[in-house]
Amino acid sequence: MKNDKIKNIAVIGSGTMGSQIAMVCALEGYQVTLQDISEESLAKAKQSLEGHMQRRVEKGKFSEDQVSKAFECMRFTSSLEEAVKDTDIVIEAIVEKLDVKRALFAEVDRLAPAHTILATNSSRIVSSKIADATKRSEKICNMHFFNPVLVMELVEVVQGPHTSEETIQVTIELTKRINKIPILLKKEINGFVANRLLGKLMDEAVYLLENEIANVEEIDLACTKALNHPIGPFALMDLVGIDVAYYARMQNFQETGDESMKPSKIFVDKVEKGELGRKTGKGFYTYS
Ligand code: NAI
Repeated sequence: MKNDKIKNIAVIGSGTMGSQIAMVCALEGYQVTLQDISEESLAKAKQSLEGHMQRRVEKGKFSEDQVSKAFECMRFTSSLEEAVKDTDIVIEAIVEKLDVKRALFAEVDRLAPAHTILATNSSRIVSSKIADATKRSEKICNMHFFNPVLVMELVEVVQGPHTSEETIQVTIELTKRINKIPILLKKEINGFVANRLLGKLMDEAVYLLENEIANVEEIDLACTKALNHPIGPFALMDLVGIDVAYYARMQNFQETGDESMKPSKIFVDKVEKGELGRKTGKGFYTYS
């Protein structure tokens, strides 16, 4: 299948990631069906996308016409069968639970045409943990977008041992056509590339803080003013949620048994106090 044969895209899961993945595809003229088991989530997705796109029209990033054409390309449904029956690629962005994803892939495998690629946007689960739930493992890969999808340009495409070259080629080509920049990971690895780099930076920042080498503001300044990062690691942890950083480390520790991967005391204290970052008004910084 050549990539220009991709016309229809199904995005499964209409939350934070799925809704915006659907939007970036529709903006490029693909016919997109956004599916979710929750009607409430679908309604929220539509409303939130309308808000995001309205703001972009006001800023002159898109014309009214471009946006209304994109919405004409989108359908919202709670029927999985309806979503995948004519699709050329499925991008899954549902809850981060392996058993739920495996059940979904098995069902999609049954309902989607034989040529359809099934990609997962999971941030942690490599596709080889899912592929054997289907009878088309050569068409399964990771396609990992970054939050917020409307803004972040990178997509990590990960080739599992089961993934065919053709699947990778088509997925990379689609990534480019929706104005994203793909990087190809030729092997599966926990955390992929960007989040592995980020994890190391955050851990080092916490090490420097815990050892009283420098304070939160100073460490962030070192990153913004010397390394030219747009935001320092502590400000970023506040933005993403300190609980997210904590659970990612907990999961790494549980999977590997490696004590060095355990979340450090600072993460534990912050989570226990409910100081999770911007969303709670306090994390490493205080927000009004
Ligand atoms: P979310 O919680 O915002 O949305 C998940 C959606 O999936 C919900 O609307 C839920 O109703 C729906 N859902 C659950 N089970 C379903 C099923 N069986 N069929 C259809 N819909 C179902 O989650 P979010 O943050 O969008 O994450 C989705 C995926 O994207 C996860 O795998 C996550 O690891 C990954 N991801 C998340 C990022 C983030 O910053 N939030 C970044 C990159 C990847």
